[in-house]
Amino acid sequence: MPRYEDRLLKLVVMSDIHLLPPGRIQRGLDTRARFETAMADLDRCHGDADLCVFAGDIADAAEPEAYRLFDAIRAQSAVPQRVMLGNHDDRAVYVPLARDPMLDPDGFVQGVVDLKGHRILMLDSSERGGSRLCDARLGWAAARLDEARTAGLKVIVLLHHNPCALQMPVDTYRLDQPDRLLSVLRASGAEILLVLAGHCHIATAGSWGGYPCATINGNQHRVEPYLRGRTGQQACYSDPAQFAVVLSDGLNCVLHFHNYVEQSTEMDPAHFPYKWNQRFEEVP
Ligand SMILES: [Fe+2]
Ligand SMILES: [Fe+2]
Repeated sequence: MPRYEDRLLKLVVMSDIHLLPPGRIQRGLDTRARFETAMADLDRCHGDADLCVFAGDIADAAEPEAYRLFDAIRAQSAVPQRVMLGNHDDRAVYVPLARDPMLDPDGFVQGVVDLKGHRILMLDSSERGGSRLCDARLGWAAARLDEARTAGLKVIVLLHHNPCALQMPVDTYRLDQPDRLLSVLRASGAEILLVLAGHCHIATAGSWGGYPCATINGNQHRVEPYLRGRTGQQACYSDPAQFAVVLSDGLNCVLHFHNYVEQSTEMDPAHFPYKWNQRFEEVP
């Protein structure tokens, strides 16, 4: 019987990289430097990850130079990787120059990876300036979910656009017609552990149609919870920049928010001597 750690899925999800062509900085945020920090943290803290998925908005304005920069930076990590697209991306620009693009038979940038009893289902909701899951994309997803159910694989769904309403203005450009995806998930009968998205630049957790779902800050600015009824300016913050670390043994599926650019001050470890070399729960 393999060790528990060897049966435990570790999935890292980064989102909203928003890279610019080399040398360019926007709104005082250097998304390249931030992404390099994210990849350094991936290798330093999660080099044992089974997979790292980049969940869209790779380039801020879909420039070829930004996509080449993205591939060059991520090539330095040995962690297996997959790339998804968002509304800031352009499939027609990305696919011809991408390193190993994930493509379905219709040319959409979506795919699956099966790991340790799980199926990671990565959907292409990108549409230049918007979002869409057309009949072709949904039909492909339905077939992959059917396979997962038949094979007894538990499913983690990744897509760029948040399907769940956050009761924030971003809901006006969340996933288009989310009910259509919800119907496909429900009809599949597959066991879905988590639906995880980026796009909204804020960390949230909850459920959507009964499925656990979450979103992450990503690599660019993050926004404050500006909830229904608010008026005036919504605050945007330079940090934390954040990626998700999902650990699942099929029964326990947890999402950690790993902040890699953060202004908070680490307290003196001398205050917490009991946090040195701590023991973990032992699972047979
Ligand atoms: Fe974004
Ligand atoms: Fe987006």
